[in-house]
Amino acid sequence: MALLQILRYPDPRLHTVAKPVASVDTRIQTLITDMLQTMYDAKGIGLAATQVDVHERLIVMDVSEERDQPLILINPQLVWTSAETHLNEEGCLSVPGIYDGVERFDAVTVSALDAQGVSRVVESQDLLAVCIQHEMDHLMGKVFVEYLSPLKRNRIKKKMLKAQREEAQ
Ligand code: NI
Repeated sequence: MALLQILRYPDPRLHTVAKPVASVDTRIQTLITDMLQTMYDAKGIGLAATQVDVHERLIVMDVSEERDQPLILINPQLVWTSAETHLNEEGCLSVPGIYDGVERFDAVTVSALDAQGVSRVVESQDLLAVCIQHEMDHLMGKVFVEYLSPLKRNRIKKKMLKAQREEAQ
């Protein structure tokens, strides 16, 4: 197992559109193990492969209190969304310390392969639904701050760059 480096906004690599996973092989299984470890270590509830600079359609999540219910989605596709949407406060491991409201569907259903490469349909609502939509955005190269106003986004960009400069010293 290995901890992976998480790309930080505004790293341009976060805007790469991921390609489908061609085969759920040992390379992908190792990546899943490492991404889960990285996500738990960073105390996150979700991590997309894009965030660790692997541009393939793979997401790991765990929204349970006990942090013992990992959910893996490979090549996820939205198959249904609720009519209702809600403004939720979101954060992101690639934008540490920033939280802001994003409008999301209350419930979504996705089809995806699991860690064994088996096709599954996952129904979700509330926090899990928000997390799935946030992570699927990452696979499309979209970071949640892109939903905010240009003014807020620029402020966040400056703050992130300043923090990275300070860390580098
Ligand atoms: Ni994120």
